[in-house]
Amino acid sequence: MLVLNGKAVSEKKRADIKSRVSLFKGKYSRSPGLAVVIVGDDPASHVYVKNKIKSCEEVGIVSFHHQLDAQTTETELLALIQKLNGDKSVDGILVQLPLPPHLSADKIVAAIRPDKDADGLTVENMGLLFSGKPRVVPCTPRGVIEILKYYDISMAGKNCVVVGRSQIVGRPMAQLLLLEDATVTVAHSKTPDVSAITRTADIVVVAAGRPRMLGADDFKKNAVVVDVGIHRLPDGLCGDVRFEELKSHAHAATPVPGGVGPMTITILLENTLVLAEKLQAGR
Ligand SMILES: NC(=O)c1ccc[n+]([C@@H]2O[C@H](COP(=O)([O-])OP(=O)(O)OC[C@H]3O[C@@H](n4cnc5c(N)ncnc54)[C@H](OP(=O)(O)O)[C@@H]3O)[C@@H](O)[C@H]2O)c1
Repeated sequence: MLVLNGKAVSEKKRADIKSRVSLFKGKYSRSPGLAVVIVGDDPASHVYVKNKIKSCEEVGIVSFHHQLDAQTTETELLALIQKLNGDKSVDGILVQLPLPPHLSADKIVAAIRPDKDADGLTVENMGLLFSGKPRVVPCTPRGVIEILKYYDISMAGKNCVVVGRSQIVGRPMAQLLLLEDATVTVAHSKTPDVSAITRTADIVVVAAGRPRMLGADDFKKNAVVVDVGIHRLPDGLCGDVRFEELKSHAHAATPVPGGVGPMTITILLENTLVLAEKLQAGR
């Protein structure tokens, strides 16, 4: 079985991004800027934000870290977003999710200027994606497409199944596969027999958020399996798929860790650069 090494794909892509950032700096005498807003003290979110800031530095993107306390009101958070929307040194804005329960993620994301929406989550950017004219798209599903392309795994005409239909992963994933001319089926928690659907697929992307939910019996022989899930269990990190079982069954699969995870931040860096280039071209 071919192990789809997202870390290697990510490293190569980051080197490309770094040289594009350097060209951008030469042309516009400034660095692309990403504002990262985090509210509260969710430990996993802090780790993600720290990694995002470090990764920005590595490729030459300036990051602006806004750490707000858990009691921050909606009015205060919206005021910060308005300020960032108008700040010329900020090209991309990312609000780390989940937010504390008293804040509506939908309302906060909607306040981000769509042309600074580094996560591609605003209704305008989702609409562009779903009308087949993507501007920036959610990072994780875009990362999955990049991994498949890196390994020359063609999607055109293939039966692809996406397990999960979240706004951030499943839905945009299905749409990106459709844009690659795949025949796409989406399974979710109300699908009576998920396994019967996944067994028909040439390529399966699993984003159900259920630790080790699927194994060899759930995939046809020589399928390509991409595992988006990530879970911190007492015995370590795992995905939604029982990777070990695939070794003598699948054609290719992503491990956890080292598969889809590393690509998510890489695409965030690319989205920030793309937004900076577009904003600069419009000035
Ligand atoms: N590697 C990365 O960078 C990265 C990034 C984002 C997310 N993740 C991981 O990816 C996983 C999914 O994330 P998410 O944000 O999309 O999660 P989510 O918002 O919880 O969505 C999970 C989706 O899976 C469906 N589902 C749940 N149980 C199912 C089952 N038994 N059979 C079929 N479908 C089922 C749900 O269906 P309903 O819609 O019917 O509820 C929902 O659409 C999580 O483990 C998350 O940690 C990883």
